[in-house]
Amino acid sequence: MKPTFSSTTRIYSRLGALNDAAQILRSLNVSRVMVVADSGLDRLGMLEAILDQAGVRDLVVGKALIDVNPAPDHAESAAANARAFRAQAVIAVGGGSGLSAAKAVALLMTNDVSIANLAGYDKAEHPPAPTVAVPTTAGSGSEVSNALVLHELGQIREIVIRGDGYEPVAAILDATVLRGLPRAPLVFAALDALTHALESLWSRGRSLFTDACALRAASEIIGALPLAVSGQANGANVRGENDEVLQRLLEAASLANIACGNSGLALVHALSSSPTVDLPHGLQNGILLPQIAQFNREVLSVEGREIVARLPELYDLIGFDSRLDLGSAAVESMIEASRGHVFRQNNARESTDVELRELLRLASESSARAS
Ligand SMILES: [Fe+2]
Repeated sequence: MKPTFSSTTRIYSRLGALNDAAQILRSLNVSRVMVVADSGLDRLGMLEAILDQAGVRDLVVGKALIDVNPAPDHAESAAANARAFRAQAVIAVGGGSGLSAAKAVALLMTNDVSIANLAGYDKAEHPPAPTVAVPTTAGSGSEVSNALVLHELGQIREIVIRGDGYEPVAAILDATVLRGLPRAPLVFAALDALTHALESLWSRGRSLFTDACALRAASEIIGALPLAVSGQANGANVRGENDEVLQRLLEAASLANIACGNSGLALVHALSSSPTVDLPHGLQNGILLPQIAQFNREVLSVEGREIVARLPELYDLIGFDSRLDLGSAAVESMIEASRGHVFRQNNARESTDVELRELLRLASESSARAS
């Protein structure tokens, strides 16, 4: 039976927490560890710096680098390597897609099946290899989530795998790894996190517990994001002078996922689930958010409405123009992907395709983008 609220990942959250990674891994009684990371981090030299700071070199037996939007066969070949190295645990380093891939690898290390067999809820026979997650963006919150998403080319739907115990055993939230984030991934990831918090507020699965997390997470993101964006522009982030702001953003992103992981996601994520729409996940959500928030206004609490009313000012402050000409093909594929989707059903206000087409038309009014 699904509990009303559960959050089992141990969170180690402070500036410099990455220095404790080796100790955290040893407390899990493991000595052979596979690193699964975003390939982009490796190209920028950031992965090596993170592993050095983590002090885990003597534990690492193998390394798998995963592209953005991980495909199932990437995860399967990485898991085959991990088994060949007799790895006992995973260090997952990256943004949402890197962490997703690492969680898939952890599941395949203990379940010798094709990843497609694990799609759905609680399909794995064995729990995943223990995973320590190090998020390098403040966004997905995948480090505390029991869900993972993979993309198969040509499919209408993503592959979603969820289950009790599929979440990382530990998450290390250390904003010093966020210092060098360029503007676009910083903004898109934060808008994804904000969407997680707000979707929780208008979901059917919400509770007092998820509302508490969602309201606080949304308010922290709205407060911290403009400061993080200006710190990126004036160099304060990269000089380490804005670490507290970035730490706030990172913690709020995890908290937002704790909210939506328990309440379930809703209409924005149902629409942004089409693999054929080639826009970053956070950008898509940021474009859809104002219109869907307006649509859901009638099901929100007073506090929820107050948070949503702050969106225009936030978008102004961070220079994010939410209007983008999506084009009719993208609009139709978004609606098609949302049809019968569990996230659309979990939205507290029911929607028709006609209503969605109109909301997407409003979100699509073409204009120059500032972001
Ligand atoms: Fe998301």
